[in-house]
Amino acid sequence: MSNTFGKAIRVTLFGESHGPAVGAVVDGLPPGLKIDMDRMNAELARRSGLESVSTARREPDAVEFLSGEKDGYTQGTPLTIVIRNTSAKPGDYEALGGAARPSHADYTGYVKYLGFADASGGGHFSGRLTAPLVAAGAILQTALEEKGISIGTHISRMRGIADRAFRDDPAEDIKLLKGLGLPVLDPDAAAEMIKEIETARVAGDSVGGILETAVCGLDAGFGEPWFDSLESQISHILFSIPAVKGVAFGAGFSLADMTGSEANDCLSVQDDRIRALSNNGGGVDGGISNGMPLIFRAAVKPTPSIALPQRTVDLASGKDTVIEIKGRHDPAIVHRAAPVANAAAAIAVADLIARRYGYMALRSE
Ligand SMILES: Cc1cc2nc3c(=O)[nH]c(=O)nc-3n(C[C@H](O)[C@H](O)[C@H](O)COP(=O)(O)O)c2cc1C
Repeated sequence: MSNTFGKAIRVTLFGESHGPAVGAVVDGLPPGLKIDMDRMNAELARRSGLESVSTARREPDAVEFLSGEKDGYTQGTPLTIVIRNTSAKPGDYEALGGAARPSHADYTGYVKYLGFADASGGGHFSGRLTAPLVAAGAILQTALEEKGISIGTHISRMRGIADRAFRDDPAEDIKLLKGLGLPVLDPDAAAEMIKEIETARVAGDSVGGILETAVCGLDAGFGEPWFDSLESQISHILFSIPAVKGVAFGAGFSLADMTGSEANDCLSVQDDRIRALSNNGGGVDGGISNGMPLIFRAAVKPTPSIALPQRTVDLASGKDTVIEIKGRHDPAIVHRAAPVANAAAAIAVADLIARRYGYMALRSE
């Protein structure tokens, strides 16, 4: 039973999609971290999606701090982030009766919580809980940037449309991504992906995609042996993002088709630093950062709620039925999950830094 991630910096999520609010409690933050509200609001706006292709559920995502913040800085006490739900419309879902949405968490949540949990809008499983995660991650992204660590995510693939790869040093690409509506580096690929999302919307269907994240400026030496390896930490938090179904680092599954001489990242001394000459390992060896950009991908499945008729079971009657979902849903969530992946990476990396050097190491002097 856990709604909490992290050991030194612990993030707990709470709330339901159609309850009064969603939020996060972040414990273990040092005092004096700057909370850049413009930055936080920009990340939250990216999570809300593009007006042209995203859900009709648009609400301001106004962040309130119930504790832990004073005059724009963390106090070092538990930080409680609350985002009120102002656009909840449970009526959209009442029409479904007890019919479980295929590939959503209605059936599994019903079994786990014995039917007591409010499932409307996905309840506690809703993508809406990624809003406080993004807010928490924005604070840590600001802190990490002050230490020279930057994070960016693009959609590397959607239904056969490929974005260009990150450059060997992704720092400039990360800056570029901050200014883009759809996080895609190649404008032609972005236009094709928008068409693909629009086609799915018109058909009452949905599409997914692959997110690729780069973390630049992380020195060698972060990650714990075995169970809390850098890969385990990142995978743990990425798989917590609703709709993420696959995670890979560096060349990932294609390493299985390579020979050792093709796969190995040879080492060399450059500017008095040991550096790898390639990055097939995605910046991790033995579960520990090697100083190369940390590169990983997350496969995001198509939005499960679609308007087309689908076979399912009515949980109230226990009988087969057919549902057509009439609520407000995105034909794609992959672009909205990009800022969530950035936030997740920031939380995981900050936790490992705090575990190695103590939480005060996240402060900039
Ligand atoms: C930012 C974001 C928004 C989401 N919005 C929706 C949505 O509007 N409709 C939907 O069916 N699923 C949405 N999802 C995905 C579901 O929450 C998710 O598929 C569901 O909880 C089942 O979990 P699983 O896909 O990880 O197995 C969203 C996910 C994210 C990350």
